[in-house]
Amino acid sequence: MKIAVLGSINLDIVASGAPLPRAGETVSGARLDQHPGGKGANQAYAARRLGADTEMYGRVGRDPFAEPALDLLKRGGTNLAHVLIDDEHPTGVALIAVSPEGENQITVCSGANAAVAAPQRIEAGALICQLEVPIETVADAFDAFDGFAVANLAPAAAVPDRLMARADLLVVNETEMEFYGESLFWSPALIAVTLGARGAELWRQGERIAAATPPQVEVVDTTGAGDVFVAALTVALMEQQSPQDALRFACAAGALATTRPGAQPAAPTRAEVEAMLGGHS
Ligand code: RIB
Repeated sequence: MKIAVLGSINLDIVASGAPLPRAGETVSGARLDQHPGGKGANQAYAARRLGADTEMYGRVGRDPFAEPALDLLKRGGTNLAHVLIDDEHPTGVALIAVSPEGENQITVCSGANAAVAAPQRIEAGALICQLEVPIETVADAFDAFDGFAVANLAPAAAVPDRLMARADLLVVNETEMEFYGESLFWSPALIAVTLGARGAELWRQGERIAAATPPQVEVVDTTGAGDVFVAALTVALMEQQSPQDALRFACAAGALATTRPGAQPAAPTRAEVEAMLGGHS
């Protein structure tokens, strides 16, 4: 099963362990780390960890951040032949603060991600996109794609009708759900709504067709858990798992991702997800 991901590639610069600052406030005592990130790259890496053959479409700058941003994708075996080097824009960077409770605040400096263009053709069983690259690029990529088209509508932004009409699966969290409102349910797509620690639901044309709660875990860092959920749900649906089983698989993968720091470094393996499901009734 080949899954293509068109989307953002960032270097995440993470300050963790101090309370999240309010506007105008300075907090101190945080620890500094850097990890590969970006919703697109996170989803490609997570899908690969769950057993898919993956390829990434995106852009990085010609700068020292590009290599660390691509490090785990490269080491994990994702095909990077379609990751272009942009001479005019820097590699995307996300500045992330993580509280002692594992909640986060993220500011993204898009850099080269804002210059990603749609390739003429993508050959894969599924294509996953998010909204950290230009929305018209996502709509164009979907128009030129024949397989299962997945749009993670994050971060929330107005999207053209043609994108909603072409998508086979739309994934939103509760905040994004509020932004899109009823308009989501006009789409013929399967809609996945993530509800944090309460799990997730699958809807089709206004009817709830599946719901799952994740196993309880000790949360360390929620960054990237939604990306793991998107990847896992796509992998499971491509394997022809039932909507209920696929949702359960994705919830378990997302929950596991919150138990470790970072976005990509926290993505679970297939064996870890299956072990968790085996022990959870
Ligand atoms: O979804 C988490 C991701 O959002 C981070 O890795 C960061 O890079 C931002 O894109």
